[in-house]
Amino acid sequence: MPGLADVERVALACTLCPLSEGRTTVVFGEGDPGAGLMIVGEGPGREEDLQGRPFVGRSGQLLDRLLEEEAGLARKQVYIANVVKCRPPGNRDPLPEEISACRPYLDQQVDLIGPRVVLTLGNFATRALLGTTEGISRLRGRSYPFGGRDAVLVPTFHPAAALRGGGEVMAKMRADFVRARQSLERGGSRGHP
Ligand code: URA
Repeated sequence: MPGLADVERVALACTLCPLSEGRTTVVFGEGDPGAGLMIVGEGPGREEDLQGRPFVGRSGQLLDRLLEEEAGLARKQVYIANVVKCRPPGNRDPLPEEISACRPYLDQQVDLIGPRVVLTLGNFATRALLGTTEGISRLRGRSYPFGGRDAVLVPTFHPAAALRGGGEVMAKMRADFVRARQSLERGGSRGHP
């Protein structure tokens, strides 16, 4: 069975979808490969594309803050990845075919890391991993059984929504990060919901 480094090596050379043509760097993901908490965002923005690291721009700063303040975790204690590993041009939404092409990388990351809690940020990550078309506003506020293991998925808004939307979104995100921490403390779905 391939390890995370093997999957990353393949992803770094990926040309499965047209996003590969416009990228500077593949943003595979980073963090603790044995993390209990895995965070899944949408796709790299400009800064991420330049640096090859997820969530290093303004959204990333907010993510780091929420993690520390509400979940008591440093960035290096979690694993952070995205639904698509290459930047969509002009930060447009990823297309369904781009999400599908990239999906095996995300699935292998989830399998190899085996998190007890997956925190999805925004519509794209939440819909992809829950297999639904429902919107994040209706999905957040609870946790969902995830995968075949004792894991749970906690959906929340994308940090960019809090940066745009202000206090109300931020308060809900804080509550969701607390939920993720509590789920982690309970050990995933043991004790769910
Ligand atoms: N937004 C995302 O969804 N992912 C990143 O890595 C950065 C910004």
